[in-house]
Formats: sequence, structure tokens, C-alpha cells
Amino acid sequence: MHAWLCENPVGVDALTWKELPTPQPGAGEVLIEIQAASLNFPDLLIVQNKYQMKPALPFVPGSEYAGVVRAVGEGVKGLQVGQTVACLSGTGGFGTHTLAPAKLCMPLPDGFPAVDAAAFIMTYATSHHALIDRGQLKPGETVLTLGAAGGVGTAAIQIAKAQGARVIAAASTAEKCALCTEQGADATINYGTENLREAIKTLTDGKGPDVVYDPVGGELAEPAFRSIAWRGRYLVIGFAGGPIPALPLNLPLLKGASIVGVFWGDFARREPQANATMMGELARWYAEGRIKPVIDRTMPMNELKAAYARMGSRAVMGKLVMVN
Ligand SMILES: NC(=O)c1ccc[n+]([C@@H]2O[C@H](COP(=O)([O-])OP(=O)(O)OC[C@H]3O[C@@H](n4cnc5c(N)ncnc54)[C@H](OP(=O)(O)O)[C@@H]3O)[C@@H](O)[C@H]2O)c1
Repeated sequence: MHAWLCENPVGVDALTWKELPTPQPGAGEVLIEIQAASLNFPDLLIVQNKYQMKPALPFVPGSEYAGVVRAVGEGVKGLQVGQTVACLSGTGGFGTHTLAPAKLCMPLPDGFPAVDAAAFIMTYATSHHALIDRGQLKPGETVLTLGAAGGVGTAAIQIAKAQGARVIAAASTAEKCALCTEQGADATINYGTENLREAIKTLTDGKGPDVVYDPVGGELAEPAFRSIAWRGRYLVIGFAGGPIPALPLNLPLLKGASIVGVFWGDFARREPQANATMMGELARWYAEGRIKPVIDRTMPMNELKAAYARMGSRAVMGKLVMVN
């Protein structure tokens, strides 16, 4: 097997494409031949030692992937050799093969392509948990999504529309805004050229959005929070823009609004039954054509460094997927 190895987490340049012995699965594990692995923002942070999870060295990055089970370890039930699965194990995806805990593997129904499957779990689970569980989004309400053309952003547009909400998608370029419109956004704001607060005011008749979905943070957070509606919910998803914003606490007071933290990974660990129910609903929505990952492009696995550069330069629209 081959894989991208991180022996020193000082950035993407230090990754090396290495030939390694193909491992045999231990108890509770399966060996997966990887067909596709997507890039998520944490994949960029983890190789720089900037992510909250710090794997033991050396490790193979690649949080989320799909492929074929090639061997099963002792005690594994419900998975067979030859079955296709998707898995979000945090590491291991950027290679030709990996060992994965069987309990994290989701068997794929027929007709679920590996590229879509590799781009599905993290973004759709995060956005569903955020909007519907944490944000209590109701049909007819208005959602403002920042970074709306990115991975979690495009999933958030589709899920909010599936829930019957009105979506205002905000992104940094006209091209990104056009993609958001294609994905069903009712209105867009190009915060590269427009004043965010003024644009929100105009698009909501001064009322503000009921829910703000924020995976970007930085300088966008305060103007977005100042624009929120009475009883609004501000969903803290992540800080792709860099700095973690600090908000004056008089702002939630004045709007009777809530700042709501979203941590899908811990939700899945702490509330596995609720997460399984949610994943079931997402799989149904996919089968019904209500949601579908937006694939920026696929690239060969050995071009991972170019893929990381594309993500780091803010060029990705939807999801970038590496394929073997
Ligand atoms: N809380 C959770 O459970 C959870 C789960 C998954 C992901 N996340 C977080 O959500 C965030 C987005 O993840 P993602 O996979 O959707 O990433 P992504 O596809 O790269 O999207 C991030 C978006 O952020 C915007 N952005 C602003 N400044 C940026 C910068 N300096 N570099 C890169 N992007 C920048 C970009 O949109 P514009 O160019 O339009 O501004 C980009 O489309 C990350 O912080 C990630 O850690 C959180």
C-alpha cells in the first residue's frame, strides 16, 4: 500500500508519499481499499498541529473516505469482504488502504457513488445537527449562511431548503454566490464587495435572520450577530477565517438571542443513538435527491499537496475529493 505520511506536523510540505506494509485488521477493525477521500478543513489543521485532535506520530491524514472492505478482524459483525463503506475516522484516508474501526463504517446502499460517499458524513451531519437540532430551524424562518460555498456551507444551504427555510447565502466572490444560487439559495450576499450589515438589512426588511450559520468567524461574526433577528440563534461552527471572534455580551441581551455552540464530533460520540437517527434521515434525503454533495473536483491521490493548496487558498467550492 501507499499513503501520505505525516512524521512531523509542520505543514503540508512535510508530507511524504510512502510505500508501507499493508496491515492486517485487529479485533474490531476492517481493512479498507480506499476509492475516494475528501478534504475537510480539519485535514488542513491536523498536519500543522493546529487541530484539537493530535494523533500520535507518524500518522496518515485524511479524515473521511469511502472504499471496499478487503479484510475483517476478529469479532466484526455486519461487515463483509467486498462490501462498500464510508468512514469518518479522523485519519488514514489519504492513501490506498487503511485500517478503520468497524463501528465507524457505514455500509453504503447500492447506487451511492464513492465520491459522494466520501464527501457526505462530515458536512451533512454537521449542518443537520447545527440547523435542526442546535438551531431549532423551523419552516418559513430565514437562515443566513456565511462561507456558504464551502463544504459545510453548501450542505447547510441544501438542508435549510429541505427544512422549508428561506436561505440567504453569503460568500466572498460572485462565482461562489452563483454556486449558492444553483444550490437553492433564495438570495446571496457577496461580502467581498458588499457591506454585510446593509445587505442583510435590505434582504430581511430590517428584521434580520432567525438563524446565522457561521463556519468562518473572524471579522464577519460581529456584523452578522448585530444583524440577527429577535430570538435569533447564532450557530458557532468554526473559524476558517482565522481569528476566534469575541462578541460583546450586550448583543445577545439586546436581541433576546442565543449563541449556540455546535460540535458534531462530540454529539456523535456522546449521543450515538440520536446521531444514528439523524444519519438515517440524511441517507433518505440523499436517496430522494433532496441533498447531494457539491463536488468542486476530483484529483488523483498523489496530487494531495496541490489539493491542500487549493483549499488553503480559499478556492474550493463544495468538496474536493482525492481518488485512487
Ligand atoms: N463544529 C463542527 O462540528 C464542525 C464540523 C465540521 C467543520 N467545522 C468547521 O467548519 C469550518 C469550515 O469547514 P469546511 O470543511 O466547510 O471548509 P471549506 O470548505 O474550506 O469552507 C470554509 C469557507 O470559509 C471561508 N474562508 C474565509 N476565510 C478563509 C481562509 N482564510 N481560508 C479558508 N477559508 C476561508 C471560505 O469562504 P469565502 O471565501 O466565501 O469566505 C471557505 O469557503 C472549519 O473551521 C471547520 O473546522 C466544524
